[in-house]
Amino acid sequence: MLKNLELFENAEKMSFIDQSVLPTEKKVITTGDYHEVADAICKLIIRGAPAIGVSAAMAVAVAARNEKAQNVEELHKKVTDINAFLAGTRPTAVNLFWALDKMAQASKEAAACSENLEEYRKAVEKAARNIASEDVTTNKIMAEYAASLIKDGEVILTLCNDGVLCSVEYGTAGGAFVKAKEQGKNIEICVQETRPLFQGARLTAWELQQEGIPYTVMTDSMVGYAFENKKISMVMLGADRITCNGDTANKIGTYTAAVLAKHYQVPFYVVAPSSTLDLTMKTGKEIVIEQRLPEEVTVIHGKRIAPEGSKVLNPAFDVTPGELITGIITEKGIFTPPYNYESLKINLD
Ligand code: MRU
Repeated sequence: MLKNLELFENAEKMSFIDQSVLPTEKKVITTGDYHEVADAICKLIIRGAPAIGVSAAMAVAVAARNEKAQNVEELHKKVTDINAFLAGTRPTAVNLFWALDKMAQASKEAAACSENLEEYRKAVEKAARNIASEDVTTNKIMAEYAASLIKDGEVILTLCNDGVLCSVEYGTAGGAFVKAKEQGKNIEICVQETRPLFQGARLTAWELQQEGIPYTVMTDSMVGYAFENKKISMVMLGADRITCNGDTANKIGTYTAAVLAKHYQVPFYVVAPSSTLDLTMKTGKEIVIEQRLPEEVTVIHGKRIAPEGSKVLNPAFDVTPGELITGIITEKGIFTPPYNYESLKINLD
């Protein structure tokens, strides 16, 4: 199984797959510099909600190892600043803040009880390794739950990327497709290309090809045609932040797919670890939607496709109302409507 993210011995370095050059090039970047990880998250070289959380946690551990300091207190202060710096990379996926909060807590606890720098560094490294291994375990459990909903012969629409590249291993919805195939089910995945950065066409299609799962790539504007003519029987995809009422931020285009699913009366499932649930937010209106550079829309592979000076809309995510979501599949089980603080909290505890 492909490893997307790796933390090296003693957290001196970490590595990640460069997702900006796939599928034509497979490049692994190794670094001991947290600035490089932050830059990779901003540029979507590392992307996908769980992956940005785990990589940021690893970057904190790498920084704790490599930053020079005279004593634990000084190093803890540096690591706290680096944690805040990493939190500024992308605003929408809550997994980033969830992972960095855990790292901040680990650093604080380690600073309080470590006798020397080595002890502190080891404790911070352990916290990052726990976050990474939890991601793998969580994905395996979610894949079981989500695959149980997939029937033989299912034609499943997905968009953006929700396989191994969005996580440490397995992925979210992508893990369910792999599991369904292992269970002997014949499935076909309809992959939206996912403009403007083509995560569907470049990354999800690549992952599915590696796994030998039949798939069809389409442009985003073909999704209505595909519901009608390819007989899509289910939508299954990931999430970047889910609020108390089930409102779900995911890659731009998810909302359109949900409205179509409702029209065609096919189930719409979100597969996400419980770390994607943000119970501090009542509704999706509170979610900060990342607005990205106009050039992502107006330039493709270095070639301008819209006149210079055009006004551009480029939100990276949209919010699908909870009422359009048939089920939210987490490692804690499958949540169904009505979604509210109490129902989600009880299931999470
Ligand atoms: O902008 P990206 O590529 O990081 O967006 C990622 C997505 O929207 C994924 O679909 C999402 O993280 C869910 S899969 C874990």
